[in-house]
Amino acid sequence: MKYVVLFCCTLLFSTLLFSQDSLKQKMHHPDINDLIKGKENLPADSVFTNVKILQRMTAERFIGTMKIFTKALGVRCTFCHNTEKWASDEKPNKEIARGMMKMTETINKDLLTSIEGLKGEHAFVGCETCHRGKEKP
Ligand code: HEC
Ligand code: HEC
Repeated sequence: MKYVVLFCCTLLFSTLLFSQDSLKQKMHHPDINDLIKGKENLPADSVFTNVKILQRMTAERFIGTMKIFTKALGVRCTFCHNTEKWASDEKPNKEIARGMMKMTETINKDLLTSIEGLKGEHAFVGCETCHRGKEKP
């Protein structure tokens, strides 16, 4: 079982690396990592201006989560953002994504844990569990 977990971690890590590389090639605006330079380990709500859900995550993990969103839905940052104004909520998909985060948390914290007899190590859903690379699952 340890190996399965290890394998999944490796997979997740390489997925992150891969999406970082392909994003650098695709994005025309300055690298987002430059925006958080020197602030990687500060809480997201002290680095960004409009954070309502992921406040306590570090800035680095926050950006990592953004990359996971793009990968899980098969989209670019522009699907949810005006990349000139990251903090803006002008794109409806951004607010929908907040709702999806709340839904996912309820599934993981309340619903899956209340299913009796379910002991799997992978009793967990993420965006990709449903979306699998598509905007609409
Ligand atoms: C599926 C929608 C979605 C995608 C795709 C997405 N984001 Fe986000 N982004 C959000 C949401 C939702 C928030 C607000 C999170 C919160 O309120 O906790 C956010 C917040 C941010 C912020 C903070 C802005 C501020 O100052 O408040 C940055 C920076 C950001 N995203 C960058 C990115 C980058 C870079 C990408 C592409 C790699 C990306 N996002 C892709 C949904 C998305
Ligand atoms: C339990 C399954 C499930 C999970 C988990 C899930 N979604 Fe969704 N998502 C859906 C469904 C269903 C729709 C509605 C599709 C439609 O309108 O036909 C949707 C729609 C969306 C949309 C609107 C897309 C569009 O083109 O209208 C966004 C944005 C989105 N999800 C983001 C996310 C993000 C980000 C996560 C992870 C935090 C997530 N979703 C996790 C099922 C899920």
